[in-house]
Amino acid sequence: MEIINSPAQIQQYALRVKRQGKKVGLVPTMGYLHKGHLTLIKEAKTKCDVVIASIFVNPIQFGQGEDYEEYPRDLTRDADLAKGAGVDVIFAPRVSEMYPKGYQTFIQIESLTERLCGASRPGHFRGVATVVAKLFNIAQPDFAFFGQKDAQQVIIIERMVEDLNMPLKIVRVPIVREDDGLAMSSRNVYLNAEERRQALVLFDSLKAAKSLVAQGERDAARVKEKLIEIISKAPLAEIDYVEIVDGKTVQPVKKLSGEVLIALAVRFGKTRLIDNIILEV
Ligand code: PAF
Repeated sequence: MEIINSPAQIQQYALRVKRQGKKVGLVPTMGYLHKGHLTLIKEAKTKCDVVIASIFVNPIQFGQGEDYEEYPRDLTRDADLAKGAGVDVIFAPRVSEMYPKGYQTFIQIESLTERLCGASRPGHFRGVATVVAKLFNIAQPDFAFFGQKDAQQVIIIERMVEDLNMPLKIVRVPIVREDDGLAMSSRNVYLNAEERRQALVLFDSLKAAKSLVAQGERDAARVKEKLIEIISKAPLAEIDYVEIVDGKTVQPVKKLSGEVLIALAVRFGKTRLIDNIILEV
């Protein structure tokens, strides 16, 4: 497995293998790989001849006061894990190669970014969409793989691909959880033991919401009440948002019907965790 830093070099590599008729898969990551990422890679292996994993902590998707500096980084460990999972090439560019002096081009997706993480992290999705568009141009993938954990992110990327006629297919991969239900995240390493224990209320609340809906509840306000009640059982939990939105438009719903996304962001100490569930009602 090779590690390539240069965008031009990885682009040449991708164009070359595509000319040989091979399908290229891209797994974009910010590194510090966990089982969630490895599942994306495995999925990519089933659909593609060549799998490129990008590792880049993208500065422009972090706001002021967020964890850009502290975000865990360990390329040696990531390279071992990626190799074990069958990645062919890691693309690990430097910030100065992705955003050289004079860089000016950004992608803004409109109403899909108004709520949830878009509301609590202004500019975040502009940074995500921009880097992902660049990664698509650089790595030339036929398929790109994204985790359902960042539910709003994958909705936005699908929109961007459609709106900008990008010639690739986005594959959504279900959330991978620890045995006790906590959604895998590189940020879980920030949690101390007590925060980690209390963070289980997130999945508990989503499961409770799901069973409420299974019992026939269709009133979004009542489902939201239930979610908040369960999360509030954890004294360290500080709710950023708990929202019930349409799974396609990301606009709030009053009555649950069709594809519904229940999404939450909750802080435990300095760590902000997100989780979600999609229901077909
Ligand atoms: O989900 C992530 O890790 C990042 O937002 C992504 C898609 C790699 C863009 O930096």
